[in-house]
Amino acid sequence: MKQFPKNFLWGAATSAYQVEGAALMDGKKESMQDINNQGGQFADASVTSDHYHRMKEDVALMKELGMNCYRFSIAWARVLPDGVGEVNQKGLQFYHDLIDELLANGIEPIPTLYHYDMPMALVEKYDGWVDRQSIFDFAEFAELIFKEFGHKVKKWISINEQSIIVQYWTKKNYVPEKYLNDARMRYQINHHMHLADKLATKLCHELVEGGTIGPALGYDPIYPLTSKPEDARAAMNAQDLRNQYFLDMYLKGFYTESAFRYLKEHDMQPLFHEEDEKICQSAMSDFIAINYYSSMCAKAPKKDATRQYQGVNISGVKGQFSGEEIQPDFYEMVKNPNLDTTDWDWTIDPTGLEYTLRDIATRYNVPLMITENGMGAYDTLEEDGRIHDHYRIDYLQKHVIAMKNAIDNGVELLAYCPWSYIDLLSTSNGYKKRYGFVYVNRTDEDEKDLNRYKKDSFYWYQQVIATNGAKLAVDNYLVTEH
Ligand code: BG6
Repeated sequence: MKQFPKNFLWGAATSAYQVEGAALMDGKKESMQDINNQGGQFADASVTSDHYHRMKEDVALMKELGMNCYRFSIAWARVLPDGVGEVNQKGLQFYHDLIDELLANGIEPIPTLYHYDMPMALVEKYDGWVDRQSIFDFAEFAELIFKEFGHKVKKWISINEQSIIVQYWTKKNYVPEKYLNDARMRYQINHHMHLADKLATKLCHELVEGGTIGPALGYDPIYPLTSKPEDARAAMNAQDLRNQYFLDMYLKGFYTESAFRYLKEHDMQPLFHEEDEKICQSAMSDFIAINYYSSMCAKAPKKDATRQYQGVNISGVKGQFSGEEIQPDFYEMVKNPNLDTTDWDWTIDPTGLEYTLRDIATRYNVPLMITENGMGAYDTLEEDGRIHDHYRIDYLQKHVIAMKNAIDNGVELLAYCPWSYIDLLSTSNGYKKRYGFVYVNRTDEDEKDLNRYKKDSFYWYQQVIATNGAKLAVDNYLVTEH
C-alpha cells in the first residue's frame, strides 16, 4: 500500500462527557448528559474514564501511539457553568493545560465546541435548544473559546452529529416532557443548531487567524434495498432527508428542497424567523468532518406505514434491535442483508466509507476529515494485561484502505480520527461496548482502578502511523510479544 499524503493527520477522538469525569468538580455544573446518564443500566457521567485527572498520562500514551492530532470536545458547562455569564477560570485552565500538553508533544488539537452536552442551566431557563435564545448563547460560548484558544488552535469542529440528534433526540439531547411527541421540534432544534453553527463559523473566521471550522456529521450512506425503481427513489428520499439536508445547509446555506417539502407536507418543517435566511447565508463550513460507522438501505414504505424513528440495540445481542426509521410516503430504512454486523447490529461496510467520501467530495468539492470511525465491541482484559482485539484491527484496517482508495480517486482528506482514543462511556451502551485503542480498567458497575492498558490495536495503529499508512498488515508480534 502506498503512503498517504505527507501532511496527513493521524489521530483519534473522544468527547468531554464520555471521558473526562469530574462532572461536578472545580466549578463545572451539570450538562444534559449528566442528567441523561443518571439512573440507567449503564455507568453515569460522573467519573467515566477519569481523563480530567489523568490527562498527562493519556497524552503521553497518545505520543507513544504516534498520534499527530487529537479530536476532543470542550464541555460548555465546564467553562460557562450557567451557559452564559460568569466564566469558570478553572474550566478554561483545564483546556489550556490539555492543549499545551498536546502541542508540546507534537499533537495538533482539534476541539469540538458541542458534543451533546448543553449546560442544564439553559434547559432550566428556557428548555434548551427548543428556544431561539440557545443560538445566541452558543455564539457567546463560541466567542469566548475562540478568543481564549484561537492563537493556539486552528482547526475547529462546531457541532457534533446534528443528523443523529434528530434521530435519537432523547439520548443525544435532553427533551422536556411536553415536547416528547412533537415531531416538528426535532427539526426545529436542528434548525437552531444550524443557526448556532453559522454564527460560530462566522466568529471563527473573524477571530481566529488562519482558523478553519466545520461540523462533524454522523453519516450513513444509503443504498436502495433492491434495483426496483421505487426502492431507488426511496433511497434518494432518505439520502435527501438524512444527509443532504444537513450538507446543503452547511455548505450552501439552504435546506434541500425535496426534504424540506416533505417536512412541510407533514407539518414537521422548522419555522423560520425573518432574519434566519440571512444567517444561513452568512458563513459556510470550510470542511466537513464525517463520523462514519456503517451504511444503510432504504425501500419504498408500505402505503399504511406510520412514522417511526431509528431504534437501538441495548443488549449487545445481535438481532435485539428496536426497529428502523420509517417516514410514511417517503422511505423505510432497512439493514443491508449483504453485510455482517457488530454485536450491537451496526453493519460493517468499509466500501461505504469510500462511497461516502467520493460522493460528498464530488458533490461539494470541499476538504473532508474523518472524526469518528470504529468498532464497538466486548473486549477482554487477559491476566497478562493484554487485550487481543483482532476484530477491531480488522475493521480499522479495511476502513484505512477505503480512505486510501478515496484519496486515490481525488478526495482531499485531511485527517483520520478513529473512535475512540481510549475506552469511554458509549452513548447507548455504557462501558460494555468499548471502542478504544487504550483499555480502561472499569465496568459500568465497578470503577475499579481505572488503569490504562494498551490493546493489540494500539500496536497495530502505531505501525500504521509510523509508516504513514503504508503498513497495514497485522504482524504476528502484535499478538505475541507485547
Ligand atoms: C457517535 C457519537 O454517534 O457515535 C459518539 O458522536 C458515540 O459520542 C459514537 O460514542 C458511538 O456510539 P455509541 O452509542 O456506540 O457510543
